[in-house]
Amino acid sequence: NWTTDNVIEEQVAAIRELVGDKRAICGLSGGVDSAVAAALVQKAIGSQLTCVYVDHGLMRKGETEQVEKDFVAATGVQLKVVDAEERFLKALAGVSDPEEKRKIIGREFIRVFEQAQAEIIADEGPAVEFLVQGTLYPDVVESGGGTGAANIKSHHNVGGLPEDLEFKLIEPLRKLFKDEVRMVGQELGLPEEIVQRQPFPGPGLGIRIVGEVTKERLDLLREADAIAREELTAAGLDRDIWQCPVVLLADVRSVGVQGDGRTYGHPIVLRPVSSEDAMTADWSRLPYDVLAKISTRITNEVRDVNRVVLDVTSKPPGTIEWE
Ligand code: XMP
Repeated sequence: NWTTDNVIEEQVAAIRELVGDKRAICGLSGGVDSAVAAALVQKAIGSQLTCVYVDHGLMRKGETEQVEKDFVAATGVQLKVVDAEERFLKALAGVSDPEEKRKIIGREFIRVFEQAQAEIIADEGPAVEFLVQGTLYPDVVESGGGTGAANIKSHHNVGGLPEDLEFKLIEPLRKLFKDEVRMVGQELGLPEEIVQRQPFPGPGLGIRIVGEVTKERLDLLREADAIAREELTAAGLDRDIWQCPVVLLADVRSVGVQGDGRTYGHPIVLRPVSSEDAMTADWSRLPYDVLAKISTRITNEVRDVNRVVLDVTSKPPGTIEWE
């Protein structure tokens, strides 16, 4: 007889027993799974858990603050926020190729995370033996994994640490599907904005700028994205769409007329999709008046943008993200 209460109770007891007086760390991505896993472990072991959030400067408007304030307020978790914006922007300078961007972001992320891990491990407290991960049941099935609440395997991302250091994994969501994870998160008191969050890629806005990633372009895209999200939420469409990437075509310019003059600005692409599992997707038939409102606001409010276009491609042949 499955209830969220049962799951929480069972996991809290199991995690307490497993961890004992040792410590655990957990990487937060801003997504639902890592947030719920962290909140569950936090309920079990309190201050023996430290969470690490790497702000790579590629997040959307308000996202880092949401983790910093809302998540901590809801859970009381100990959080280490690493501001790595400069480091990421430097590493991404001059790079336009999508795969290269992804590799750089992945590599820098691991480096910063390891550094934070090492700092936590180096302090005075008890040994850090556990790493919390938000692995879900579909992830386990996909990788042909076994059962058991806390499978133990060595963590592969420990390049800067002693060679024999291994983390034991705590994966409290291993038996759950996404909708169940959301229910558990809700029961644990996480705010709606975290629990009902749509998917967002790890490389963030870095793969939503077609062209080189710069601070200026990120700020511009952040504004456009915030407007689109605000209007979709206001129209009550959040649950109807899977996600809506907002993409800046930074290397494209087109002629426009704004105010009393000619402009030569960039297009913003709206990519609303509906999907069951992101393997395939269809473009969402959003109401025209909502699209019109988003378009008007973006071209009025975002500097250097004079055109908004709608992506009407399904997946396949298009992927959901542009890069
Ligand atoms: P695509 O673009 O491959 O995206 O159709 C499918 C889903 O995956 C998300 N996505 C990512 N998520 N790290 C992530 O955590 C990534 O590198 C990544 N790339 C794409 C995308 O937003 C969509 O939901």
